[in-house]
Amino acid sequence: MPNLNINGRNMSVEAPADTPLLWAIREQLQMTGTKFGCGAGLCGACTVHVNGEAVRSCQTLLSDVAGKKITTIEGLSARGDHPLQKAWIAEQVPQCGYCQSGQIMQAASLLAKNPNPSKDEVVAHMDGNLCRCMTYSRIQKAIMRAASEMRTASNAGTERRAT
Ligand code: FES
Ligand code: FES
Repeated sequence: MPNLNINGRNMSVEAPADTPLLWAIREQLQMTGTKFGCGAGLCGACTVHVNGEAVRSCQTLLSDVAGKKITTIEGLSARGDHPLQKAWIAEQVPQCGYCQSGQIMQAASLLAKNPNPSKDEVVAHMDGNLCRCMTYSRIQKAIMRAASEMRTASNAGTERRAT
């Protein structure tokens, strides 16, 4: 019975080690924010973080994530107020919404490493996350907005510490 560390909690799931992580998250653990799209690594709807890296959970086996830290959209921030989540609301990004948790998780892995991405870097990083509703321009705007707000908050924190 594999043990998983998801959103800071240890959980055991009754599934073989070659079960895709997405199945365990959705079916066993009933965390349905992570979506099934293609099941073939082609759409990004199932994106979660494993040790901070964005991965396609439909293509990741439980045996691949033993002892690693998994984060789903439910654990991205305790109150759903990650700067990306706030920017998504401010820019009114979603249409049907189905792809959006994967989009946010993919974007979060970029901003964690690169707080000042260029538009080209955003486009390249988000390239594998598909949206049938074509919300791409709003996604890009929201990522740039969140990056700017994260830099502002970080600078304010640095200034407070210096005084
Ligand atoms: S459902 Fe995993 S990439 Fe599409
Ligand atoms: S908002 Fe509908 S698929 Fe992206």
